[in-house]
This record gives sequence, structure tokens and C-alpha cells, in this order.
Amino acid sequence: MTTDTSLSQGAYKITPAGPLKGTIQAPGDKSISHRAVMLASLANGASTIEGFLESGDCVATLRAFQQMGIHSERVGHTIRIDGAGLRGLREPDDVLDMGNSGTGARLLLGVLAGQPFASTLTGDESLRSRPMRRVTEPLARMGAQFIGRENNEKLPLTVRGGSLTGFEYESPVASAQVKSAILLAGLFADGETAVREPGPSRDHTERMLETFGATLDREDRRCALRGGQELKGCDVNVPGDISSAAFFLVAASIVPDSELVIQDVGVNPTRTGILDVLCDMGADITLENERAYGAEPVADLRVRYAPLQGVRVVGDRVVRMIDEFPIFAVAAAFASSPSTVEEAHELRVKESDRISAIVEEFGRFGIEMSEREDGFTVAGNAAPRGCAGSSRGDHRIAMSLTVCGLAARGETIVRGTAPISTSFPNFFDLLQQITPGSVEGIE
Ligand code: S3P
Repeated sequence: MTTDTSLSQGAYKITPAGPLKGTIQAPGDKSISHRAVMLASLANGASTIEGFLESGDCVATLRAFQQMGIHSERVGHTIRIDGAGLRGLREPDDVLDMGNSGTGARLLLGVLAGQPFASTLTGDESLRSRPMRRVTEPLARMGAQFIGRENNEKLPLTVRGGSLTGFEYESPVASAQVKSAILLAGLFADGETAVREPGPSRDHTERMLETFGATLDREDRRCALRGGQELKGCDVNVPGDISSAAFFLVAASIVPDSELVIQDVGVNPTRTGILDVLCDMGADITLENERAYGAEPVADLRVRYAPLQGVRVVGDRVVRMIDEFPIFAVAAAFASSPSTVEEAHELRVKESDRISAIVEEFGRFGIEMSEREDGFTVAGNAAPRGCAGSSRGDHRIAMSLTVCGLAARGETIVRGTAPISTSFPNFFDLLQQITPGSVEGIE
């Protein structure tokens, strides 16, 4: 069963209720949670995952591995997974439904490409419209067979995996999902598999493969691994998700007198583009208590209200903050000068077409923005007035509209808030905690 109807369900009323104050914990990192389930399932022996993100997306990945015979159980806030080894997955007896998750689907296609059985993947309406050829084409070159809509571009997709041969892939997009799918398939391939990419996409897969005992050959923009390497079960501690923390970083930056501490946030340099950009805009953000959770750097982030100025976002920074553009748009609206985002075509194929969603939905607040083919511009100096906006089925648009509502004049209604549970199930509870009276579920 897919979850299509829930994409447009749920609505919240947002009422500005003064400064955001307090100390909160960001939910577990979504990217790392997916990878932890996948590698723990393919490892020999047991693994534990502490701080696993119990959201729709990550639970879909956990369920898919259960359908392939992997035993997992929750012990308090920890998930224990009994790995079956590289050759231990079994053919699922039903379709694997990845819900809303592009990461779950694309990385799993890499794993399934290496399996000597057939499996079929589907997802919700948003996921079924997202491009998959970026992974099916290189995986087919390694030897996997696919049957899917639009020449293997769209889910549902059936995969018959099997004997793969490693190769060197020059990826046209800087995408961690593409890179990871190929590296995961490379675990099952004969010889070496290498991926070269045009920009610095997040490297959680590489770090976690090493944590599970694999040897990788990593250079700038190229990563290679030898097939057949056995993984060893281990204990993973998942950092807080900087992409979720970003909503609070911007909210506290634009609501006068706010001061928040967000604890245990992952600050892997391939993910911190939003910190660099906000700091260039004049945000008051400091990293405290810097440490590591295994291979991943972590810090507490202190953020205080500060006047912002406009900025131009281009180049590597686009990749390093690829999920943060909806909330960046809110910061840019409140800046004292214009901002531009360029070279961000990828935003067109996220959970929604985020370029048009940003320009049209924030336009309802009276914020002056315009669309570019590869990004958008924001005039700045906005005095948003409360309005009724729609998530368009996209969790990050829903949360960004909510944050904008906290600093707008009057009330805002955000419709289609249900998808927030794909990445940040306690988003509204945390907001209610740090700015009481600001949010109320109305549907
Ligand atoms: C992700 C990679 C990014 C990002 C997504 C999570 C990952 O997608 O947008 O939310 O966990 O690998 P792309 O690889 O398509 O850029």
C-alpha cells in the first residue's frame, strides 16, 4: 500500500508568539539512518543503531530489509539488527514500498542490483515521479537488469540482480544517492568499482563503509572499492540531522530576541553549506562541544537572533546545502539585501520542484522572489504577511512555510503538513516547546 493520500493531509495554524528560547535535540540524521540499516543488514553479526530516525522514510528502509529476511528489534532508543552477511538477503515475497524516500529507493536499487533474485520497488506519488535512470543506467552497465516505466526512469521498477562487474563511473551529477548506489553495488561486483563526481556530495556512505570494516580508496571527487569485502557488524551512533536543525537555525535568526542551543548536530563538512551561508549573511551561530560520533563530527549549535544580509549561493556550496534551499529562502527574505541561488537545477527533481514551490508559495506571503532556470532570486527586506500556503507534498516546504509564519504579520495556515513525518516527526512539538502558543494542528 502506498501513502499517496497523506501527502496532502494535515494542516497547522501558525501564530507568531515571540522569541524562540531553549535547548533542543535535532532528530537523528536521515541520510545516516538509512545507511546504518543497509550496512548493518549486509554485515556479519549484530549491529546497534542509537539515535535512529524513526521517520516514515527510514522506517520504510527498515521494513524493506525485514521483507528480505533481516531481523531487527527496538531496544529503547536503539535498533538492533542481525546482519545476514553480503549474500544473506532473500527474495522478498511482495513489492518493497519506499514511501517518500528517494534515498531509500536509490540506495536500495544499488543493493538489489547485486542480489541473485528479482524484486520490485515502488513509492508514493512524489517518489514515483522522481528520476531513477541516474542509478538504473550505471547499475545496468554493471550487469543488473531493470524493467520500469519510461525506459527505467520511474518507479515501480523491477530489478533482477546478479553477477556484476566493477567499472569506473563518471557521474554527470554531484549526487550522494548516485554515488552510494554504485558503491553499494560495487560490494557485490567482481573487481573494482569507482565513482567520480563533479562536486562534493555527502560522504556518509564512504565513512560508514569504513566503520563497518571496508577499505576504500578515496581521493578528491573519486571513490573506489573492491568487490566482495565482508562487512563486520558494529555500533553506530547517529548524529542529529543538520538539515532538520536548519529550520531552527533560521527561525532563531529571524525572530528578534531568540536564543537556542541545538544539541548533537552532525557537522560533516559535506553537509555544512548552510552554516557557511548563514554565517556569511551575518547569522550569529557558534559551534560548541565539538566531538565525533564514530566517523562523523558532531557539535552543539548555539544560535541567536541577528540581522541578515543577502548572499549569492553557487558552486560547491549548492551541493553542500542541497536540502536547505526552502529554508534558506526564508532567511533570504528577511535579509537587508538581495540573494541569488544559481547552478541548483537539482532542486527541480526533489520531493517537489522546489524552485517553483519556493517562488510561488513564499510569494503568497508577499515576498518578492523570481524563478531562474537553475535557481531563484530573493529581493530581501520582506515584511511577510500571514497567508495560506501548501506544502505541495514536500516536507521541507511545509516546515519552511511554518518558520516563515513565525516571523510574519498575522496568522498563517500551512496545508499538507503530513509529509513532515517523513523526516521530522516531532517538528511541531519542538516548536511548541521553544515558542509556546505558536502552532496549532487544525486538521
Ligand atoms: C541524500 C542525498 C541528496 C539529498 C537527499 C539525501 C542522501 O540527494 O538531497 O535528501 O542521503 O544521499 P541527491 O543525491 O539526489 O543530491
